[in-house]
Amino acid sequence: MNSQEMYEKMKSRLEKIVPDVELRIKAEIAVEIEELKVQKNAVILGHNYMEPALFYSIPDFTGDSLDLSRKAAQTDKNVIVFCGVRFMAETAKILNPTKTVLLPAERAGCSLAASITAEDVRNLKARFPGVPVVTYVNTYADVKAESDICCTSSNAIAVVESLKSDTVIFLPDEYLAKNVANETGKHIVFPTPGARNFTDSGLDYQMIGWHGRCEVHEKFTVADIQAVRAQFPDVVVLTHPECSPEVVAASDFSGSTNAMIRYVQETKARRYLVLTECAMGDNIAAANPEKDMLRLCMVRCPHMNTITMEETRDALKFNRYIIDVPEEIRVKAYRAVQRMIQIG
Ligand code: 13P
Ligand code: SF4
Repeated sequence: MNSQEMYEKMKSRLEKIVPDVELRIKAEIAVEIEELKVQKNAVILGHNYMEPALFYSIPDFTGDSLDLSRKAAQTDKNVIVFCGVRFMAETAKILNPTKTVLLPAERAGCSLAASITAEDVRNLKARFPGVPVVTYVNTYADVKAESDICCTSSNAIAVVESLKSDTVIFLPDEYLAKNVANETGKHIVFPTPGARNFTDSGLDYQMIGWHGRCEVHEKFTVADIQAVRAQFPDVVVLTHPECSPEVVAASDFSGSTNAMIRYVQETKARRYLVLTECAMGDNIAAANPEKDMLRLCMVRCPHMNTITMEETRDALKFNRYIIDVPEEIRVKAYRAVQRMIQIG
């Protein structure tokens, strides 16, 4: 495909979202990336939060965390370029130890992944012996290695229920844990490090959580929703389950990034507010031109936003930034990730 053809392809989707002057520049970079992809026998996986020009041009697959983990597990390409954040690229490496996994921006982290260490998990296991550990996929490999099973926002409830255990440790997202507890009717506790042991506290609990938060979703408030509803009474409000339970309760639908995309596609309402990374609102708007998408763009994910088309091209050109996971950690983390992938 030459750059004119690429520009036409991108324009057909993004005409109302990205100005022409940007589309022309991005189309040229997209062509370079396509050529490098063939030369390097690479696949590009793009998370739903990627900026619209990237999202609608270079990825071979787009999707939510669970979807992209599955795609990573199935690829036969030599190189996987992950347009997402480090924990996602690490998950691809855990599943593909012999392949080269590249993350286009070195510092694409995540506040949830940074909120807990492997030692924290070992301490919790010592405090609650025999209780299975579920970790959100938004964690680093050494934390996954200490876990029985991982989950994403799209299968968290199914994963917890699959364990058939009276009690589970659910880490590290406080809000996702509370939302799962609400959905499954479980009582959740948050033990403070070093405090009295809950096991002999007499308290009735079925989930043990941690105080990690997504620095984006924690900022949305019920007042934000009320203000938008006052201005647009017909708005349908969608939230990611990393939002607080109060915000989730004030919304009309809560689900993973894929689930929110599907919801807008399948629902007849005219106007939506998507409380998640702002770029995803642009991507949904591009796919649903007949619907009005509102988003609160004053809250952005600083990590996802470091992944650009320029960085992705340079990742392929200069073989950077290579993701490595020590083999002894990878083998243990693989068990937890593989178990998750098998759950719907
Ligand atoms: P999804 O699994 O819903 O794609 O979410 C990933 C994420 O990082 C949300 O902030
Ligand atoms: Fe992490 Fe939140 Fe950014 Fe998702 S949006 S990558 S959970 S900081």
